[in-house]
Amino acid sequence: MLKKSKVAAVFAAIALAVSSAPASNAATDKQLEIFTWWASGGEAAGLAGMTTEFERLNPNTPFINASVAGAAGVNAKGVLVSRMQAGNPPDTFQAHAGEELSSYVKAGQVEDVSFLYKSEGWDKVFPKDLIKTLTTNGKIYSVPVNIHRSNVLWWSPAAAKKAGITKAPASLYAMIADMKKFKKAGIDGIALAGKGDWAIAHLLDYVLLASMGPDKFNGLWKGTTKWDGPEVAKAIKYFSTILSYGNSSKSLDWPDAGKLVTTGKAGFFIMGDWASSQWQSEGLKLGKDYTWAPGPGTAGVYQWLSDSFTLPKGAVNRDAGIAWLKVCGSKAGQDAFNPKKGSISARTDSDPKLYDSYLQAAMKSWKVDRLVGSTVHGVNWGNAGMAAYNSAVGRFYTGGAKDSKGFVKALLAAQKANAQA
Ligand code: GAL
Repeated sequence: MLKKSKVAAVFAAIALAVSSAPASNAATDKQLEIFTWWASGGEAAGLAGMTTEFERLNPNTPFINASVAGAAGVNAKGVLVSRMQAGNPPDTFQAHAGEELSSYVKAGQVEDVSFLYKSEGWDKVFPKDLIKTLTTNGKIYSVPVNIHRSNVLWWSPAAAKKAGITKAPASLYAMIADMKKFKKAGIDGIALAGKGDWAIAHLLDYVLLASMGPDKFNGLWKGTTKWDGPEVAKAIKYFSTILSYGNSSKSLDWPDAGKLVTTGKAGFFIMGDWASSQWQSEGLKLGKDYTWAPGPGTAGVYQWLSDSFTLPKGAVNRDAGIAWLKVCGSKAGQDAFNPKKGSISARTDSDPKLYDSYLQAAMKSWKVDRLVGSTVHGVNWGNAGMAAYNSAVGRFYTGGAKDSKGFVKALLAAQKANAQA
């Protein structure tokens, strides 16, 4: 038997060990394999913010970063499909809130994670409408880590000054007038990133919204606005004109297109707010080297998307996956991730002081603006529809934006592909 003093010493030692041990949600598995497309720049920096928090809480669970480069998931999604088909899912993967997530739910590839919403109290800290976009038949299938805004206009104050532009354009018409001014000053009107099609489709998503307004835009995905009707025809005209002011290379990756703006070679850039974190990761300063405004014609409308993480069925390290999801949904995890990722927290209780002036403005807008989903980033259509939408836009763009009849046909086919998936 141990003497009393020895017992006390043992208890004291245990108490010390417990108090300095990581929180009780430490994963019990050997490793965590997490699958994303955040492979470089601001994207990787954001992910690193959150994985550091995971490692702090789970020091004995090595983190394996299985990211597949290619923005917007253009390469990652294909790799993910083959891994799932081969019965080899990662322990967690990135999926957008909305119809993209529903694609995985329909295919029976992800687990219901409602139990985490109960145990972590997330029902109370995530906006109800956001939770709805993660829910099928009363079950919640993922954990949102952020809210990005896609309808943002970025530009360089120095280049604008050179072209005689003093304020952000407030309509598509004014934007085109400014692009003419840029052109006169020897600067391309807009930076275009043709690599992987998605960034040009992202631009179309914004032009459709700005040209027809949120109600008609929403109707495109609900089937009440016709793809072969006058509203889309008008938007395609704007789109073709805007494309005609772009840089000549048709295959730039989005960070390279972004560089055209910050080095004064191109005027405007329509891109999600991850552009800001990319530029900050390159050492540039918000407000000095680049600035922003709501996409012309869409002030008061927040075109949103949300990255979320799932628990794949059959994950080898399921406990580690759950530990990761707990970090994803936590205040500490979100506030470590989002200021670096260039997005706002999906939680309603994050600390604005940790975020830069753009993100603080976004936090305010997210609360009061009209919310409209992004198509290219998963809200409006599932994976099949999105892929068809992106490649329809890509073909139109590389074909010189001339065949608008063929374009409408391809968009109608994308709508069909989405419905049939
Ligand atoms: C989006 C994603 C963002 C960002 C962007 C560019 O689909 O939601 O977080 O990664 O692609 O890669």
